[in-house]
Amino acid sequence: MKDLKEPRIRIAPSLLSADFGRLKEQIAMVEEGGADLLHLDIMDGHFVPNLSFGVPVIEKIRGCTELYFDTHVMITDPDKYAEPFIKAGSNNYTFHIEATNEPRKVIDHVRGLNCDVGLALNPDTPFGAIEPLLSEVDVVLVMSVWPGFGGQRFIAEVLPKAAEISRNLRPDQRLEIDGGIDFQTVGSAAENGADIFVAGFAIFGASDPVSAMARIRETAQASKAAGGER
Ligand code: DX5
Ligand code: ZN
Repeated sequence: MKDLKEPRIRIAPSLLSADFGRLKEQIAMVEEGGADLLHLDIMDGHFVPNLSFGVPVIEKIRGCTELYFDTHVMITDPDKYAEPFIKAGSNNYTFHIEATNEPRKVIDHVRGLNCDVGLALNPDTPFGAIEPLLSEVDVVLVMSVWPGFGGQRFIAEVLPKAAEISRNLRPDQRLEIDGGIDFQTVGSAAENGADIFVAGFAIFGASDPVSAMARIRETAQASKAAGGER
């Protein structure tokens, strides 16, 4: 079973910017090109002002790849939909702290379904909002854009928060950064403790997605080596 416990750089292409008419080929391309995770952005048109895809798409693509499915739900009722998204083939279920008053219940529910669990924070949500739950999750996802759309500009103001979270994580926990990551922004994210890098537009929007992914990875590795491991 793949998990996130081993500390290393991981690249997670976000399917949101893929060509949905050729999903199978697009997934095969990033899998063969060395992607570590496939990031699946679920939007409900309520928690965020946009809709994406849902359970039937995950079920279908589960049959065509071995990649770890990193499911990021931007939905108002993460507890209600945990089971269908996990049964469809998610390996991780990351939900927003802003979306629920009962985060512990969601975490326990996801764990009970034998799935990794992550907590996501919007750009203006402080570390304190997740601090009491930190030891209970596998991954913390720091949003570096406002959730809802791909291809937005990286918000560098979230970096001190990323560094603070990173200092409080165990070696078996991951810090994921999501939004506006490309070869120019990934270095600062790595220096501030991130080790899972989501990239949508910078990979699927590139003329050569596999070399774009390699460039992002190399830059992250070089910055991590310079900045020191957690
Ligand atoms: C935004 C999503 C992101 C998005 C990233 O709501 O959570 O995962 O797809 O896309 P880029 O890399 O294009 O900012
Ligand atoms: Zn995402």
